[in-house]
Amino acid sequence: MCGIVGYIGKQNAYPILIKGLHRLEYRGYDSSGVALLNGQNKLNVYKAKGRVSDLEESCATKDTLGTVGIAHTRWATHGEPNNVNAHPHYSQSENLALIHNGIIENYAVLKAGLINEGYTFQSETDTEVLIQLIEYVKVSNNVDLYTAVQLALKQVIGAYAIAIIENANPDLIIAARKSSPLAVGIGKDEFFLASDASPIIEYTNKVVYLEDEEIAIIQRDEPLKIVNLNNHEKTPQITKLEMNLSALEKGGYEHFMLKEIFEQPRTLRDCMRGRINVENNNVTLSGIIDHKAKFQNARRILILACGTSWHAGLIGEYLFEEFCRIPVEVEYSSEFRYRHPVIFPDDIVIAISQSGETADTLAAIELAKEAGAFVYGICNVVGSSIPRNTHSGSYTHVGPEIGVASTKAFTAQVTVLTMMALNIAKERGAISQTRYEQTLSELSNVPAKIKEILELNPLIEDLSKTFTYAHNFIYLGRGYSYPIALEGALKLKEISYIHAEGYPAAEMKHGPIALIDQEMPVVVIATHDSTYEKTISNIQEIKARKGRILAIVNKDDDKVRAMADFIIEIPETEECLAPLLSVIPLQLLSYHIAVKKGRDVDMPRNLAKSVTVE
Ligand code: G6P
Repeated sequence: MCGIVGYIGKQNAYPILIKGLHRLEYRGYDSSGVALLNGQNKLNVYKAKGRVSDLEESCATKDTLGTVGIAHTRWATHGEPNNVNAHPHYSQSENLALIHNGIIENYAVLKAGLINEGYTFQSETDTEVLIQLIEYVKVSNNVDLYTAVQLALKQVIGAYAIAIIENANPDLIIAARKSSPLAVGIGKDEFFLASDASPIIEYTNKVVYLEDEEIAIIQRDEPLKIVNLNNHEKTPQITKLEMNLSALEKGGYEHFMLKEIFEQPRTLRDCMRGRINVENNNVTLSGIIDHKAKFQNARRILILACGTSWHAGLIGEYLFEEFCRIPVEVEYSSEFRYRHPVIFPDDIVIAISQSGETADTLAAIELAKEAGAFVYGICNVVGSSIPRNTHSGSYTHVGPEIGVASTKAFTAQVTVLTMMALNIAKERGAISQTRYEQTLSELSNVPAKIKEILELNPLIEDLSKTFTYAHNFIYLGRGYSYPIALEGALKLKEISYIHAEGYPAAEMKHGPIALIDQEMPVVVIATHDSTYEKTISNIQEIKARKGRILAIVNKDDDKVRAMADFIIEIPETEECLAPLLSVIPLQLLSYHIAVKKGRDVDMPRNLAKSVTVE
C-alpha cells in the first residue's frame, strides 16, 4: 500500500527512483509519480495512472535530470486513481512537492481553513491538503521548511509517512513519519529514502528506521539529522540490513508467488533453525525465555491479526488449547480495536503480521498495551513497526515475501505458533515428554514432506484447467483443517477473483448446502485425523447433491477416493501439523487457476501487501 522512494546525492535521481518504485510495486498501488529538482530552479512533477511502466513511458520525453527527487506509488484512499490524485502534489506556489503514505483524518477541517485563506485544490486527496498546510505555515510564519513541517504536523490527526522537496533548496529532503513506515538509507555522499528496505538494499546496507513523530532532515553533504515534533534531536540509530538482493528477484520463476510457494521447504527450515535442537529434542524461542513467568501464569491468550495471518492465528488457537490448556481467543485486529474488549493484565496478546506494518494490528497492540497486557509479535519483516512496538516476539525468518497473496509467511507463522505451543506446554507441564518429542521430531520432517507435495505441481496445474469455468467455490475442513479451508478460499479469491467460501465441513448443512449443484466445485480437506469419518459423511452429503468434489487426502486413502471426482494425495503427519501440508496444494491450485484466467498473480487488483491504513 503506497510506496515512498527518495534520493539525494551525486547520481541522477530518476533511474534510482524508478527502480525503487518497481521494487515497491509488490505493496499494491494504482498510480505513481515522481518529483525532481533539475538544479536549474525547476521542480518537475510527473504522474501517471496505472503501472510504474506507464509513468516511465510518459516521462520518456520529459526532463528527468536532477540529483534530488522523491517518488511514490499510490493506493487510492481519498479520490479515485487518476493522474490528478496521484502523488507528488505541489503546493499552491509550486515551490514544494510532497508524497504521502497514510491518511490525514482531519483533512476536511484543515482544507476548509485553507480555502478561507485563499488556497485552491486540484485533487480530492488528503495529501494535497497537507502540502498546502505546510506552505501556509511556512509563508505565514516566515520559517524554513523543516520548522514549517514540524508546526504543520502538530495540527495533523492521522497517519503519515511523508517526503518533501523544495524548489528553493535543492540540497534538502524533509521526511517524517507517524504510524506509517519510513527508512533512510545511508550511502557514501548520498541518502536514500523508502517505505521499506527493498529499494535501498542494492546501494547500502545501513538504514535508519524513523520512529513515530520523528522528522529526518536529509541534507546533501551533511550527516543525517533526526528531530522530533517537540524539537528534541536524536542520534540516528543505524541498523545493518541482512537482506540480500536475490531475495527480491524472481529467480527463474514466472511469478514471485510461485517462487515463494516453492521456497517453503527452505523457509521453514530457516524458521526452525537455532530454535529446534533435533539431537536434544528441544525447542527454545529466545522471545519466550526472558518472559517465562508471563507465559506460565497466563490467564488467557488473545491472538490478533488480519487476513492470512488471522488464519494462522486460528490454528494457533487449536494448538495452544490442545497443548497448553490455555483458553484462546482469536480476533480480527480491526474488530478488536473498536469493540471495548475486556483485556486482563495477565493476558498474553500475540499479534501476527507478515509485514509488521498492518495499521489495525498496530492499533490493537496499543490498546492491549494500555490495558497492561504482555504483547508478543510474530512478524516477518525485520525492524518493522510491530516488532518495535511489542514486548517480545519471534521473527518468522522467511525473507521478503513479494507476492501479495501470502504463502511462505503463513506456513512460517504456523510453524512459530507450533514451536511456541510446544515450548509453553512444556514449561507449564501440560504435555507429556513423549508427545512433546514426537511432535517436535515430526515438525522437523515437515519441510521434506512439503518438498514431496511440491512435486505434484504438474498434476495440480493440469487439474486447475478443470476449474477455470467456475464462478464459485466452497472449501470445507474440520478441526485443524478448518482454518485451511478458510485460507484456501481466501487465496483463490485474492488472485483469481473467483468467489470462494471456506466453511467448517459440519456447518455446510446449515446454509451453504443450498448452493451445491453439479456446477459447484467443493474442495474438501479429508486427511486422516480425528474427524476423518465425520468428514466422509459431509462428502456424502455433497455427493448426493452432485457437487464436484476435489479432496485433499492422505496416500492410500480408499474411502474418499471412491467418492471424490478428483483427489490430491499428501503425506501423513500429526493432526496438529497437517495444516502445514494441506495448505500447499491449495496454494498451487489458486496459483494455477489464476494464471489460467490471465490474472496479475503477484499484484491482484485492489489488494495491497502492506496495509498501512485502517
Ligand atoms: C493484506 C495482504 C494479506 C495479509 C494481510 C495481513 O490483506 O494482502 O496477504 O494476510 O494484509 O497482513 P500482515 O502483514 O499483517 O500479515
